[in-house]
Amino acid sequence: MQDPNYVKKAFSRIADRYVVTNHVLSLGTDILWRKKVGRIVAGWNPETILDVATGTGDLALEIQKKCPDTQVTGSDFCEEMLAYAAQSGVRETVVADAMAMPFDDDSFDGLTVAFGLRNMADWSDALQEMYRVIKPKGHLLVLDFSLPTGVLRKPYRFYLNKVLPKIAGVMTGEGDAYEYLAGTIEQFPSGKEMTDLINSCGFTGASARPLTCGVASIYTATA
Ligand SMILES: C[S@@+](CC[C@H](N)C(=O)[O-])C[C@H]1O[C@@H](n2cnc3c(N)ncnc32)[C@H](O)[C@@H]1O
Repeated sequence: MQDPNYVKKAFSRIADRYVVTNHVLSLGTDILWRKKVGRIVAGWNPETILDVATGTGDLALEIQKKCPDTQVTGSDFCEEMLAYAAQSGVRETVVADAMAMPFDDDSFDGLTVAFGLRNMADWSDALQEMYRVIKPKGHLLVLDFSLPTGVLRKPYRFYLNKVLPKIAGVMTGEGDAYEYLAGTIEQFPSGKEMTDLINSCGFTGASARPLTCGVASIYTATA
């Protein structure tokens, strides 16, 4: 559960360096994760997709590429991040708080949220709001960080808490924002805990796919 004012300010400060910092810190893996999401979304054959917390629009752009006939809307409450999404070619952008979105019930065939849910003030309320705007039998996809299980868990936590904030601090001058990132990953539910949470918010059949040894996960469910 995060403080929305802190989150909005933190992203507005790093907006101009967000994309390149992501690629460096993940060694480019984040690009492959978004490509995978694009392929899953294309399999839904949707007419309309809402990419919530779209930020600089990397995922919305990937979906536009994979689904050229789909109407893709990117929404975010940070205007500085969203300005980059619009500049980069996201065709429709809407400034909106994911906790109370300006969309009618049952508006979208599918909804994606990448590295966004973790930053929201209340994960359950946010998922219920997402459920509200997805059409019945429509799709939800959450992509977010998780902690690897097994032998990788300890070295990864060392990287996350000690190494990553230092590299990001040098790249962005905002090391505290990346210490915050590490803290949110530690707190965020993953695996069965997350699929149970998604199902408790109205969705059915939530399932989890770990990516890159569990460093991130894709969760899908039906509304
Ligand atoms: C880590 S970035 C992810 C951006 C993009 N989805 C990606 O994959 O790169 C998180 C984004 O979530 C947005 N965000 C966090 N809480 C939000 C909320 N309550 N409503 C809308 N956007 C929110 C932030 O402004 C930020 O742009």
